[in-house]
Amino acid sequence: MSEVIAWLKENVPGAPPALAELLERAVADQPDPGLTGVAETLAQGARKLYQEAFAGTGGREDAIVLLAADALLTHAFEAQARSNPEELARFAERWGAGGEIGRLAESVETGSEASEAVRVPGALETLRLSEKRQALFYRGLSALAEAADDAGLTQRFQDLHADEQHHLSRLTARILELGGRPVSLNDIPAPVLSLEGWEEVVRDCENEEILLYRALRDGLDEVTRALVDDILSVEEHHRSELGGKWTLA
Ligand SMILES: [Fe+2]
Repeated sequence: MSEVIAWLKENVPGAPPALAELLERAVADQPDPGLTGVAETLAQGARKLYQEAFAGTGGREDAIVLLAADALLTHAFEAQARSNPEELARFAERWGAGGEIGRLAESVETGSEASEAVRVPGALETLRLSEKRQALFYRGLSALAEAADDAGLTQRFQDLHADEQHHLSRLTARILELGGRPVSLNDIPAPVLSLEGWEEVVRDCENEEILLYRALRDGLDEVTRALVDDILSVEEHHRSELGGKWTLA
């Protein structure tokens, strides 16, 4: 099994068979990921599927192709963030709304359903995934703190959980506003957690979120960027205070 297929199987478990088949077919056609890297191969697979979707009739049968393309692009950002976060901004620039995929969308006649859908930047799904993970992370920690009978710590994690959950909702709402279809995040596994050294782990996680938001904000339209900047300022509070409920809106 190629490295990139293995990556998909691990990171997109439980995808409906038709979707899983599309994802694997798109990346299987790409050059050896050993040469180009998993993130690059996933992004190339996404481009191939966007091309297919744009060449389609715009009917319902194209919807799953577009969904698969969005998913691959999201996972490309995710793979890049994990393997080489310092290069994430450059990767997003090259592949995102201001790069390859954006140009592809521009080359298609405007007004069709497919070209509108791709204007929902893949960055939003990457950020949703990150918020979902953070929400699960704090929910798990608050359960541990509750089991340890630490009311103060339980409250602290619950506040952080509420903020991350709120961010997730706002990102989802924005995707819907832009006419997109948010990807299901129901299958994201819960993280393995411990209260030992939680301060450092929380700080690292928040730091990663901040880096991700900073890397992805530039390719966004004005309204989405304002939303992202709003969330980013809350994440900065999380990192410095290791506590939540900074969300007022
Ligand atoms: Fe956060």
